[in-house]
Amino acid sequence: SILIVDFGSQVTQLIARRVREAGVYCEIAPFNAADAAFDRMAPKGLILSGGPASVTDIDSPRAPQRFFEAGLPILGICYGQQTMCEQLGGKVTSHGSGEFGRAYIEVADGCRLFDGLWDEGSRHQVWMSHGDKVDALPPGFRPVATSEGAPFAITADESRRFYGVQFHPEVVHTPDGGKLIANFVRHVCGAAGDWSMAGYRDAKIADIRAQVGDGKVICGLSGGVDSAVAAVLIHEAIGDQLTCVYVDHGLMRLGESEQVVGLFREHYGIPLIHVEAEALFLNGLAGLTDPEAKRKFIGKTFIEVFEAEAKKIGGAKFLAQGTLYPDVIESVSFTGGPSVTIKSHHNVGGLPERMNMALVEPLRELFKDEVRVLGRELGLPPAFVGRHPFPGPGLAIRIPGEVTKDRCDILRQADAIYLEEIRNAGLYDAIWQAFAVLLPVKTVGVMGDGRTYESVCGLRAVTSVDGMTADIYPFDAAFLSRVATRIVNEVGGINRVVYDYTSKPPGTIEWE
Ligand code: XMP
Repeated sequence: SILIVDFGSQVTQLIARRVREAGVYCEIAPFNAADAAFDRMAPKGLILSGGPASVTDIDSPRAPQRFFEAGLPILGICYGQQTMCEQLGGKVTSHGSGEFGRAYIEVADGCRLFDGLWDEGSRHQVWMSHGDKVDALPPGFRPVATSEGAPFAITADESRRFYGVQFHPEVVHTPDGGKLIANFVRHVCGAAGDWSMAGYRDAKIADIRAQVGDGKVICGLSGGVDSAVAAVLIHEAIGDQLTCVYVDHGLMRLGESEQVVGLFREHYGIPLIHVEAEALFLNGLAGLTDPEAKRKFIGKTFIEVFEAEAKKIGGAKFLAQGTLYPDVIESVSFTGGPSVTIKSHHNVGGLPERMNMALVEPLRELFKDEVRVLGRELGLPPAFVGRHPFPGPGLAIRIPGEVTKDRCDILRQADAIYLEEIRNAGLYDAIWQAFAVLLPVKTVGVMGDGRTYESVCGLRAVTSVDGMTADIYPFDAAFLSRVATRIVNEVGGINRVVYDYTSKPPGTIEWE
């Protein structure tokens, strides 16, 4: 196994994912809990993640010093490289400017890290994101690759099997990065490549049984793939100790509630309570316009409805949720590792502290596409598993400004037309996520010789591998104009349609 020491990078889980793709089991531990994880796991190697801090600051995080005396291979990435350098007697400085985005490195010397992968003198695209850089190497290290902005783009101490990379091999913008990480864990560390999703499923089932015992669990179904996969996995682990609760907040897409209830009650025979709470949610959303306030209200209300249901069921001690890794990283600033909060994700940010149920979150380490693999492993219908992600707060975060029943109905119709056209064009599976947004902006139009003054509808479609970064889907103009015409003609309340051309970053996928 491999231990990943986390210094709070937004993309630490991508390292774990690359290690899993190499077929190797790994765990992530925050730097200040890494000692215990190390003793428990007895890993074959260590990876030190990136992070937002600067090693030149007095209180910035460090790896436990004994890790460098354990005789194990270590790969330091970005901040991880810098702290390794500092802790071993080298020097890191802040230059005031950094390197961000695409860069090219040149291989200056051979090294086990890229043995069999890169030749001396070859050039490779990498993704840089750093302010500080290594100025003097610790004893035993030598540079093996350089970039324009970083003379020590890759450094190595072969005798100790310590490697430092200034760039991020875990992101897709470093095309050979996955192979580099695979090379490190398999070839340098000699870890066995026996990890698989089937094994993961069995391990999670065992974990769930151990956590829950003979307790009762209620699982919140959201209508999406994540909570469905979590529910089926938990049902497989503990059978009818599980009751699913579908809180219908009235912010679902057209026909979605009927589908979910049908799949669980009829197809799986999993006990399901359908709570119709549209009025409760819409009343509470009245007057709220701030995105975080909306998210927090929905998250909080969701949990309250759950608590009420849990009381009715009686004796349920556990609440199961389909929280995925991107939800966690974008919501949480864990102790000591200061990741920045971008959005309070529903299921995480809205959790009131007074809640007296323990959480069961078996998908917390996975990315969306890994959840789909797990879903297929569990026998969920492929069409269901292939559905685009849908956020917990539903249409509320696709209606910037105040959310009303009328506006939800308008958006539902526009969204259904858009998705129908995407399906008809055979594009559904090529797109990670597509949806309509209803803007709180009215514009003037002309229809049948009359003046109109109605809302603007935004269309979004992105490709992504993991939801962490995304690119716009490049529809052809004929497709977009067909959708725009249909929406304006068929949906009362919309007289203009625009297409969102923003990637993530700098945009996020949802508008709020
Ligand atoms: P953003 O907008 O942060 O979205 O780029 C990344 C992915 O996460 C989904 N999303 C959510 N999922 N609860 C969820 O379960 C939420 O509160 C939430 N907010 C965003 C979003 O749809 C996209 O797939």
